[in-house]
Amino acid sequence: MNETIKLLRNHRSVRDFDIEKDVSEAQIETIIEAALAGPNWINGQQVSVIEVRESERKAALAKAAGNQRWIEEAPVLLVFCIDFYRAKLAAEKNGADFRIVEDLEAIMIGSTDVGIALGSAVIAAESMGLGIVPIGGLRRNPQTFVDVLKLPEYVFPISGLVIGHPRNVPEQKPRLPLKATLLKEQYDPKIQMEIIDQYDQTISSYMAERTKGKDSSNWSSKIAHFYDTGFEQYEKNSSPTVKKQRFQYK
Ligand SMILES: Cc1cc2nc3c(=O)[nH]c(=O)nc-3n(C[C@H](O)[C@H](O)[C@H](O)COP(=O)(O)O)c2cc1C
Repeated sequence: MNETIKLLRNHRSVRDFDIEKDVSEAQIETIIEAALAGPNWINGQQVSVIEVRESERKAALAKAAGNQRWIEEAPVLLVFCIDFYRAKLAAEKNGADFRIVEDLEAIMIGSTDVGIALGSAVIAAESMGLGIVPIGGLRRNPQTFVDVLKLPEYVFPISGLVIGHPRNVPEQKPRLPLKATLLKEQYDPKIQMEIIDQYDQTISSYMAERTKGKDSSNWSSKIAHFYDTGFEQYEKNSSPTVKKQRFQYK
């Protein structure tokens, strides 16, 4: 197994950081340059990243993201945004209509670009011995991020990325077996329920161990509840802010 594969397979999200240790400006620039060297849609580069270090600003954003204390404790929060503002300027410069933001495609394009950049930033940071956790919780209150970070029209925050020096690294969270997620030639829905039954047991034991017996919930119950009532705040706040940022898909 080569070093890159080993690194990828060793990932875990970190939520306990050494508050004494900084991450330098040069390290962040290295991470973002590497992340943005990846593929992106038509080389439109529909991503901008806002680096936040100032503690009061981080505290406000930590609260807006659902009181996630690790945002305050780690030295850096990076906010990965879909960015069509530069594409709007390109349209103006070339006298073209700017129609993409009237279609859901803009969100698909931007989310894919952000996903690739975020994933690469994770790997770059971990390769430097740093710990990370993504922060999709920011979409509980994306308007606060728009206001605090002064995001212009056609820019929308998709996910944060907390970066710091880990104090404690959790055990790795088991994934679904490959037979569920790598399908050969065609999708077979019949195999999935049995795999979920087994994976529920795997996650239940993992959680019991990780929380010293306090939580032995399984995978399907967690996912079911999140997609039932757990995403209410996202439902309420996310698409209205997308629309306010002038993405006008129907
Ligand atoms: C886009 C995205 C958003 C996420 N948002 C949060 C978040 O707001 N807070 C958090 O604690 N973890 C967040 N996570 C981390 C996931 O919960 C974590 O990756 C998942 O449980 C698997 O655990 P692992 O990363 O330790 O393997 C997010 C992950 C992704 C990819």
